[in-house]
Amino acid sequence: MRIFLDTANVEQVRHGARLGVVSGVTTNPSLVSKEGSSDYKAVIKEICAIISGPVSVEVLTTDKEAMLAQAREMAGWATNAVIKIPITADGLEVTAALAKESIKVNATLCFSLNQALLAAHAGAAYVSPFVGRLDDIGHDGMALVADIVAVYRDYDLPTEVIAASIRHPLHCVTAAKAGAAIATVPYSVLLQMIQHPLTDIGIARFLADWQKVAKK
Ligand code: G3P
Repeated sequence: MRIFLDTANVEQVRHGARLGVVSGVTTNPSLVSKEGSSDYKAVIKEICAIISGPVSVEVLTTDKEAMLAQAREMAGWATNAVIKIPITADGLEVTAALAKESIKVNATLCFSLNQALLAAHAGAAYVSPFVGRLDDIGHDGMALVADIVAVYRDYDLPTEVIAASIRHPLHCVTAAKAGAAIATVPYSVLLQMIQHPLTDIGIARFLADWQKVAKK
């Protein structure tokens, strides 16, 4: 399972790239707004210059024609830009049109297996089931990821599953076990994934033992 960063914070992307573990980035209007920027294009161009893998940028309208025009424009911002389109009737139509133009779509706000199936048939390159938001309303978000992975596998559908709306490191473990191609994780979760108290204790013990002989 590949790791993407779910952020619009350029410094976080830089650190993820230096760690050598981040192969893509996903953004959305809320994440860009959180950074206090209204220049989505500038943010995406900067991120795309750091990360060579897919960088998702989300359309900012629900109007079908406007969505299509915006998606085409956003796809021109960088060669690795992927366009996030919500799974609605208009969104599927836009996804199908973009797929015919070889513009990669990340079908977003996916909350059901039916939505994922339709997104794949429309030609989406990626689908993003929102695990945490399903958990929030008492559903099993990761069960949806597992179902989508299984059905895509059974029917040879090439759309890649991005486990999104990840809230904690255990989500990453279960997403990997469920066979998700990618987990897109907040920076805080990426840092948590690195840590283990036994690693810290082990380092401290090794260095303390070394000091015993180094002082002699
Ligand atoms: O990229 C979209 C998704 O990951 C959003 O997560 O935490 O706002 O539910 P969250």
